[in-house]
Parts: sequence; structure tokens; C-alpha cells
Amino acid sequence: MHIDIISTVPELLDSPLSHSILQRAQDKGLLTVRVHDLRPYGIGKHNSVDDYQFGGGAGMVMRCEPLAALIDELREQRQYDEVIYLTPDGERYAQRRANRLSLCQNLLLICGHYKGIDERIREAYVTIEISIGDYVLSGGELAAAVLVDSIGRLLPGVIGDETSALTDTFQDDLLAPPVYTRPAEWRGREVPPILRSGDTGAIEAWREEQALERTRERRPDLLDEDAADA
Ligand code: ADE
Repeated sequence: MHIDIISTVPELLDSPLSHSILQRAQDKGLLTVRVHDLRPYGIGKHNSVDDYQFGGGAGMVMRCEPLAALIDELREQRQYDEVIYLTPDGERYAQRRANRLSLCQNLLLICGHYKGIDERIREAYVTIEISIGDYVLSGGELAAAVLVDSIGRLLPGVIGDETSALTDTFQDDLLAPPVYTRPAEWRGREVPPILRSGDTGAIEAWREEQALERTRERRPDLLDEDAADA
């Protein structure tokens, strides 16, 4: 998979993309990520990428021309499955969307700043608008990093144990059951004996029951959504 990211603060993405699983995915050639600085496409001697909003009001808006110039250039090199704009007024991001995006070949992510990008860029280019939660970040970069991480780890071969991504919390609209490692007893707290019983059927049933109980307690909305999908 190839992911292009447009940003006015590309340095914000250096660190999240160069560690751990994402770095491994890139080293293995399963994922390439390129961050493109919008600044050089800015207008005038100050390379301006934003301007006051029509109609007045506080906050600057990212201009059409620099974005269009860079997007057009990138689109000459690649055919994108989706052009994604990260914005708090987008569709709320969830595992289901990550799963679908992990099947794509080429993605283009656009990070906004200030009041956001001119509406006409959204109309002309953007195919999906995504929010990573009901709060406002100072820019789309951290949201883009969330997308790249959640998608990258789903690509076949990225996670060593292929099954582990499939048993993640949310993969079946259920929270994950509790997990334990050694020692079997720590400060008087014991690992549930069933997990040490060696009875794989009973362990599986226990995990399912715990996952369901935890979901009912903490996120009953997930079970409702399941019913709505059925
Ligand atoms: N940009 C600013 N806030 C955001 C959010 N919550 N999700 C995605 N992009 C954003």
C-alpha cells in the first residue's frame, strides 16, 4: 500500500511513522508513506497557504490554489482509491473503516490547519472526510498518524502473528477480554485458574464470555450497533 500525506507541518509526522510496527511495515516494503510539505506550493514571496475567511470571523482558511497544485501533481503519479480529509466534522473513525481502507492500494490524506480548508477543495477532490473523535486537534497530522497506524497494522505480513489483528478489541464489535502473563500470582492477585488449565475449549469460551461481559458493562452501544447492522 502507498499513502501520501499533505501537511503544512510535516515534521509532526516524522516520529509516529518511524517506529515499531509502522517502520517494520515500511522496511518490509509492505507500506510506503510519503509526507508532502504544502509550503513550497504557497502563494507570493511568503509562500502563503492560508487567508482570511470570506464573511468575516476569526481564524484563517487554507487556500485552494496551493492544495490543488500539490494534489494535481500527486494525482499525475498515482490513482487514489480515496482522497481523505481529516476534520472534526467528518465521519467518526472506527475499526470498520480501517478494515476497508486496508484493502486499498493508494490513499491520499489531507491535513488541515486553522479553520480548515476551503470548502471547494472538499467538493472537488475529497472522497471521504474522517474525524478521529469528538474533540478538536490543532491540525490533521495526529489524526493522519492514527489512520496510518491503524491501517498499516492490518496489512498482511505486518504483524508477525497473523491472527492477532483479528482478535483485537473492536474487530468483532466486542472489547477484548482480560489478558495475563507471568507470574501466576502477583501481590496476592492470581491469574484466573481456567487460563492455566490447558483446556483450550474452556479457555476460548471463558474469553468470549469475558469479552461480552466487558462490552455490556463499558460499551453497550457496540452491542446495539451490532443489532442495528443485522
Ligand atoms: N483535525 C482537527 N481535529 C480533528 C479530529 N478530531 N479528527 C480528525 N481531524 C482533525
